[in-house]
Amino acid sequence: MKESVKLTQFAKSAGCAAKIGPKVLAEIVGGLPKFFDEHLLVGTETNDDGAVYQISDELALIQTLDFFPPVVDEPSLFGEIAAANALSDIYAMGGTPKIALNIVAFPNCLGQEVLGEILQGGAKKVQEAGAVLAGGHSINDEEPKYGLSVAGFVNPKKMWKNSGAEPGDALILTKPIGTGLVNTAAKADMVSETSRKLAIGQMRCLNYYASEILKDYEVHGCTDVTGFSLAGHALEMAEGSQVTIKIDTKKIPFLPDVEEYAKMGLVPEGTYRNKEFLREKIKLNDTIKESFEDLLFDPQTSGGLLVSLKKKDAKEVLKRLQEQEQTRYSKIVGEVEEKQEVHLIFL
Ligand code: CO
Ligand code: CO
Repeated sequence: MKESVKLTQFAKSAGCAAKIGPKVLAEIVGGLPKFFDEHLLVGTETNDDGAVYQISDELALIQTLDFFPPVVDEPSLFGEIAAANALSDIYAMGGTPKIALNIVAFPNCLGQEVLGEILQGGAKKVQEAGAVLAGGHSINDEEPKYGLSVAGFVNPKKMWKNSGAEPGDALILTKPIGTGLVNTAAKADMVSETSRKLAIGQMRCLNYYASEILKDYEVHGCTDVTGFSLAGHALEMAEGSQVTIKIDTKKIPFLPDVEEYAKMGLVPEGTYRNKEFLREKIKLNDTIKESFEDLLFDPQTSGGLLVSLKKKDAKEVLKRLQEQEQTRYSKIVGEVEEKQEVHLIFL
């Protein structure tokens, strides 16, 4: 049997880079020159999942990229997860991925076999998505990183932004929350097999399966829940839509054992950065415990879609999502109301 590599050991802890959280990044990006192009339908203003550029009345290009250090030890699984995560931004906009390019950083000390397995995993997901892998770029780096830049198509009239939620809508979440906690617990060898297996199954799952069902309905707003946490992505949706979103914490689907991990302090650094940036903008019910708060600010890897659509459609959509294997953990987690004092309330 070949020696197995513990890939996550090569992922460095954030260290001094931890100071550059969402707040600092927003300031830096805000200081860049402003770009105007009448064909640019979605740029940086609303923190949407990808940039969208109109080509004709019926066709727009979505461009996106995403990459990160290993979140699991198995190289091929890491490849699958990173690729599913990168492809997700196209699905979150109602689009279809067309071309994918590999983004690779890799250390000399890890064998070429490991790199081969990571890229095989990624390629498998690009295949499953029906897109083509058409190139990429790699550099030498102590810390391995992998991801994709993806270009996709969407009909601009049917594009889903993260900012279209309307009062009277229901909110659906298509994957359980807690991958940050599970990955942290796994790195510390404290994870339960059930929660690890489920997390991996969900992280490698394409949001294609959710988006295919959603395309049959009038989606008002959609985004994928990733590093900015459920709280962060829901807040962006609420602010961009000029509404108030109420999320019922009892209805949020969670991975097994995640509150235990939070109580044990197996909390990823990103949680604290998210909390620092978001906490005062959000209202949390007094009954919510501190350990539970960490779940709401937990950075997700390859998380599900957060979708806002008419209440009358939501039940049918949910039924179809729950009947489908890949999206069976979907739940209606909240609702959209007229704008109030705060944009996001957790009940
Ligand atoms: Co996204
Ligand atoms: Co992204």
